[in-house]
Amino acid sequence: MSLSRTILVTGGCGYIGSHTVRELQRQGYPVVVFDNLVKGHRAAVRDAPVIVGDLLDPEAIQAVFRAYPDIAGVIHFAAYIEVGESMEQPGKYFRNNIQGCVNLLEAMVAAGVRYLVFSSTCAVYGTPQRLPVSEDEPYKPESVYGASKRMAEEVMAWYDRTKGIRFTPLRYFNAAGASFDGAIGDAYKPASRLIPRLMEYLLGQREEFFINGNDYPTPDGTCIRDYIHVDDLATAHIAALEYLWAGGESMAFNLGTGRGASNLEVVNMVREVVGRDFEVKFGPRRPGDATQIWADNTRARRVLGWEPRYGLREIIETDWLWHSTHPHGFEDA
Ligand SMILES: NC(=O)c1ccc[n+]([C@@H]2O[C@H](COP(=O)([O-])OP(=O)(O)OC[C@H]3O[C@@H](n4cnc5c(N)ncnc54)[C@H](O)[C@@H]3O)[C@@H](O)[C@H]2O)c1
Repeated sequence: MSLSRTILVTGGCGYIGSHTVRELQRQGYPVVVFDNLVKGHRAAVRDAPVIVGDLLDPEAIQAVFRAYPDIAGVIHFAAYIEVGESMEQPGKYFRNNIQGCVNLLEAMVAAGVRYLVFSSTCAVYGTPQRLPVSEDEPYKPESVYGASKRMAEEVMAWYDRTKGIRFTPLRYFNAAGASFDGAIGDAYKPASRLIPRLMEYLLGQREEFFINGNDYPTPDGTCIRDYIHVDDLATAHIAALEYLWAGGESMAFNLGTGRGASNLEVVNMVREVVGRDFEVKFGPRRPGDATQIWADNTRARRVLGWEPRYGLREIIETDWLWHSTHPHGFEDA
């Protein structure tokens, strides 16, 4: 595949998008980023054009395809991502995550670009019936956020059928970690995910650190999640795009390590890596949190030839490197 083909990355100034942009650059792909910077950071992207625009403005995204007629594929990260907020403001999530997607698809059709890699989520499954979770698990989202991603997948399926757009929803489990050189990482505010909250606590930016619930039916009573290193997610996006370019049919892929870690296992790994003991408090369960979930990633391994390279230790090491050297995120960059 010719590396002169440009790849459009929507939401490329965000957490996972910026790591994927770097990996694309490392592999020699020209990149153009489209981001409204509502949550993303301009400093997260180096040596690539960043077009500041909103997917909810159809003309803005169409103009990108006109300005870069060599775009050969799109990786679509731009969306709102907070489960809790989505339950309070459903309209905000349906509008951005679905209408934004429709505007992107229409612009792709107009420009004759047929390949789309999409950020989906294990939240489309809700509480799984079977573990590990395979892609055949029925859709049963338990939040507006998860529902918005499911609907976006369905919208894409109709553009496949009617307009020949080939797409791969990548259903991430829990994205975590940062770049190994400490240059970029998770700067999303307000931090709501377990590891960034823990990092803020260690940096003295939070008074307390709570684990939500220690009475779950798991070996240590805390929830179990599948943490996947953000650089492993990045390589999977490129493998998925190359799969589509090679004629692969539209297909969803789970992206996780296949191994679950409990909240307390994460905490203990942080204690080990940072070399510090600290107090952990237990709060009530958070409504809507599944007890445990981890991925069956067989399909991504078999079809994409993708392999997660990193585990919890590398996740915590890189997260700590990023947060301890950038306590205020990109303001310190
Ligand atoms: N972080 C996770 O654990 C996780 C898990 C599953 C799925 N995802 C999905 O991965 C994608 C990226 O997540 P992230 O953690 O990097 O979030 P993020 O907020 O850091 O990145 C999203 C980016 O999209 C931009 N954006 C949002 N709406 C836009 C719009 N209308 N027009 C242009 N730009 C817009 C934001 O400014 C931001 O830079 C999202 O689609 C999210 O739903 C994330």
